[in-house]
Amino acid sequence: MPDPGSAGRFGEYGGRFVPESLIPACAEVEEAFRQAWADAGFRRDLNRLLSVYAGRPTALTPAWRLSAELGVTLLLKREDLAHTGSHKINNVLGQALLAKRMGRTRLIAETGAGQHGVATATAAALLGLSATVFMGEKDMARQELNVHRMRVLGAEAVPVTSGSRTLKDATSEAMRYWVTCVDEAYYCLGSVMGPHPYPWMVREFQRVIGDEARAQCAAELPAAIPDYVVACVGGGSNAAGTFAGFADTKAQLVGVEAAGGAAIADGRVAVMHGHRSYAVQDEHGQILEAESIAAGLDYPGVGPEHAHLHDIGRARYVTVTDDEVLAAVRRLARSEGILPALESAHAVAWVIRAAEGGELPQHATVLLTLSGRGDKDTATLLEVAR
Ligand SMILES: Cc1ncc(COP(=O)(O)O)c(C=O)c1O
Repeated sequence: MPDPGSAGRFGEYGGRFVPESLIPACAEVEEAFRQAWADAGFRRDLNRLLSVYAGRPTALTPAWRLSAELGVTLLLKREDLAHTGSHKINNVLGQALLAKRMGRTRLIAETGAGQHGVATATAAALLGLSATVFMGEKDMARQELNVHRMRVLGAEAVPVTSGSRTLKDATSEAMRYWVTCVDEAYYCLGSVMGPHPYPWMVREFQRVIGDEARAQCAAELPAAIPDYVVACVGGGSNAAGTFAGFADTKAQLVGVEAAGGAAIADGRVAVMHGHRSYAVQDEHGQILEAESIAAGLDYPGVGPEHAHLHDIGRARYVTVTDDEVLAAVRRLARSEGILPALESAHAVAWVIRAAEGGELPQHATVLLTLSGRGDKDTATLLEVAR
């Protein structure tokens, strides 16, 4: 999974499709990131924060009972154990350090499930920056706990009332707002999407998941490399970071999308939110609204690198339904004592279906990135139980 070059291309995807006023800002972020990433001092500072603040390396936990039930060896990469409860903190600590290095005083972000917003508010507090987080009104209602967490941490949470009032509209609003304050604010994007260099930069900040998991699998598995590497895909950052650690192996890479927002399974090529990739559209090319029980996967597009990995056949993308996801939450909670985020449960749901349906061979070894913990979803689970 290479550097996409100065044009930021992954095959025919990616690029930098933004208003002219944002081109210099994106170029400045790219230049700053290239320099920082080549600077041992920056890497040292980031690695130190990842270990003493975010709690890395996260554990690799065998799902003992579920593995026995399914006839496979299932290993869980526990991003739910990272500070703030999801993988989002890895990327945000990297970008917040970069913003500081660029002399910026404010972070702007968009959020769906609220985990990226909470991570941004957290990093801003840690580094003495201010934070403005855009969030769709619908997501604010179903992720109320995370809205409150952001505000307690000192961030401004701005409701977005346009369109479907979810992540797509929050992203559009955050980008519009960035145009008005590019000189003092840094746009801290939450996934492997947006204009170049974000898809590449976010993947590099998230590859810590895959690199750690690779070393942990080598210690845990006789064959060192798992047969399958599975992760859920919204924009695709936890999957891209995980896949990066196994790109040069024979492991089969599987990305799991929500059936109601499956950009790769159901989408066509579009330009949206600054990049070219797949998105779900109607016959006139209008972007459709996604519909998923998981706010973090309720997004009609996907990051450009995933579109490319799909086209070249290096990764496979599958979908699961909300019902399968809810069943997977209960199954993992009751067999392992781990309550996964609804987003992460998409990956669990596919492994269950594939193992029980015979698609996964008996004794297959599976690495699954559990991108976050389910505490934030308690209100949704309560509503479903009523
Ligand atoms: C726990 C969790 N997992 C996954 C995602 C989806 O994002 P990505 O596909 O970028 O990993 C989110 C987004 O909010 C999330 O909160």
